[in-house]
Amino acid sequence: MSDNRILLGFEVGTGKEVQMRLHHTVVTGMTQLSGKTTTLEAIISRSGKRAIAFKAKRGEEGFNAYNEILPFFNERADWQYVASLLEATLREKLKFERPWIMRATKGAKTLREVMENISMLKAESSGGSLPENIYTALEEYLKIVVPQIEKFQFSKTLELKDGINVMDLTEMSVELQSLVIRSTMEHVISELRDVIVIIPEAWEHLPQGRNTPVKLYAETFIRKGAAIGNFLFIDSQDIAGVDKTSLRQCNNWILGRQREAHEVERVREILGRNRFSAEEIRALPLGHFYAVLGNELKKVYVLPAGVPYKLGRRVATGEVPVGKIKDYLENPLEEPKPKGRQIPVGDPPPKAPSSLKERIGGLGDILPIDRDKARDPSQSSRRIEELEAKLSRREAEVTTLRDEVALLRRELEKNAAKVARLEAATVQSVLSAKGAGGGISVDDINLIVDARMHQILQFDRPTQFISIDVSKRLREAIKEKFVRDMAARIRVLPRETLVLAMVVREKGEVKRGELYSLVYGSAGRIPEEFYSELQMLEDAHLVAYSKATGKVAWTMDSYVDAELKGFSDDDTRTQVKEYLASVMLPTTG
Ligand SMILES: Nc1ncnc2c1ncn2[C@@H]1O[C@H](COP(=O)(O)OP(=O)(O)O)[C@@H](O)[C@H]1O
Ligand SMILES: [Mg+2]
Repeated sequence: MSDNRILLGFEVGTGKEVQMRLHHTVVTGMTQLSGKTTTLEAIISRSGKRAIAFKAKRGEEGFNAYNEILPFFNERADWQYVASLLEATLREKLKFERPWIMRATKGAKTLREVMENISMLKAESSGGSLPENIYTALEEYLKIVVPQIEKFQFSKTLELKDGINVMDLTEMSVELQSLVIRSTMEHVISELRDVIVIIPEAWEHLPQGRNTPVKLYAETFIRKGAAIGNFLFIDSQDIAGVDKTSLRQCNNWILGRQREAHEVERVREILGRNRFSAEEIRALPLGHFYAVLGNELKKVYVLPAGVPYKLGRRVATGEVPVGKIKDYLENPLEEPKPKGRQIPVGDPPPKAPSSLKERIGGLGDILPIDRDKARDPSQSSRRIEELEAKLSRREAEVTTLRDEVALLRRELEKNAAKVARLEAATVQSVLSAKGAGGGISVDDINLIVDARMHQILQFDRPTQFISIDVSKRLREAIKEKFVRDMAARIRVLPRETLVLAMVVREKGEVKRGELYSLVYGSAGRIPEEFYSELQMLEDAHLVAYSKATGKVAWTMDSYVDAELKGFSDDDTRTQVKEYLASVMLPTTG
């Protein structure tokens, strides 16, 4: 594994090895029918790295071999953190201001103390005012999470074993789950190397069109992680519900079976229009994926951890049905034998029944029960095992159905909300000018999402670009949303930090040290806060610091250009840049 390449599986048809480079990775496909978790486990087991996974839902089919660890949580109560919690609770970013949050966090060491500050501050502020609204939103949120934080036992250290380490979060509310995942991600970035973090239920924790603490940190994790061998693995049934900014940073896309029409089309779009038929995506068998690995596209059968190499290859070449491997995984005590024919197995067959578990990342020691059972497969224990297996399959089926219902409901809600917002906020004028009706349909919105996604993909892989003609009205909607989001990001920045931004804008590019002395007028050691201010500007896409040159450059203009390419003309983009620059200026009152 000298160049970081690991075996994913075998090319369907030829049976040739398919290798992948370890990087941020997304795996999608229908629950139970695609084999996402098995794929992630295979990659992790062969990467030799440590991984952290979170069990977010009861009945969720987990990994084959893992080490359970206590949920990690490092409570913070500083204003930046609290600001990002507030941001996560607001569906639309509001124009909230730093001083109010700073007041709420003053002297606080815990979120409970922040909550207490707020109830005092609320009593002072007048009814219906902006600070009161912000305090109310924050208070509502804290009322949910603070009692939960106090209820659970957390670890302040992360003791990871090789292989997969799972935190069981099933008893926690989604809000607290998100805080725990984020806290873990922060710790991994600041303290650890070569650790994979798996985001489960990505539509929930890394959603498109809404903020969560995890999502607000994902960008930082992704950016900083790759350099130090920390990667994000995203596990999601579908692509639609997941944050596109995070997805676009993944070099590896492993896409399995889909059924829902829009999702099938999305997969086809990613793979290159018309290269594969909808039927091909719908009919992908278990363990089979279309994988975009860096610049390569492969149809692959994933070799699960613990399955003999040659046996896996025979599935890819069509000689062994995948169901045999599934049986083998579920019951490793029996070797798979197709009727009437012996499969020549390349690897020696498991010498002892427990060897399968031992092969998976050396985690045999946490599975002593299997070993005992294997030694004495008495009738009754075998029967119990079978019943248990049956029960867990039923549970899984129920979960699958429930998931599908939840997914459909979410889609419906999301689309309805989008339609309402788009029509109200941006399309109104166009509609009234035209006089004629013709609202935006769900299909139109999917088109925007696809077009946007395509543009994003095209950014990484220019060869696969196909231009999509998005109607003027939709382009407007996208532009306005972008401008609103950017403006909101700028507005939340502290005054002094904006002064920094304005200096960089004026200079175009400036040495970092020089920038510091220009604004703060002193030489000598640069304080930590200055770096965090720069980081905030970078996060808002206003500037970028280059280690190579040691300079901080103004990047907002090129960011606007890149983001709005295809959605607006030059003049419009110039206007957008000027408008956003004006947002940085101090406001009166
Ligand atoms: N590549 C594969 N070959 C054989 N069986 C597989 C493969 N991937 C998954 N399975 C089996 O299919 C079932 C569902 O797999 P899982 O990885 O939990 O799916 P998902 O995470 O997509 O819901 C499990 O019983 C698993 O053992
Ligand atoms: Mg799974």
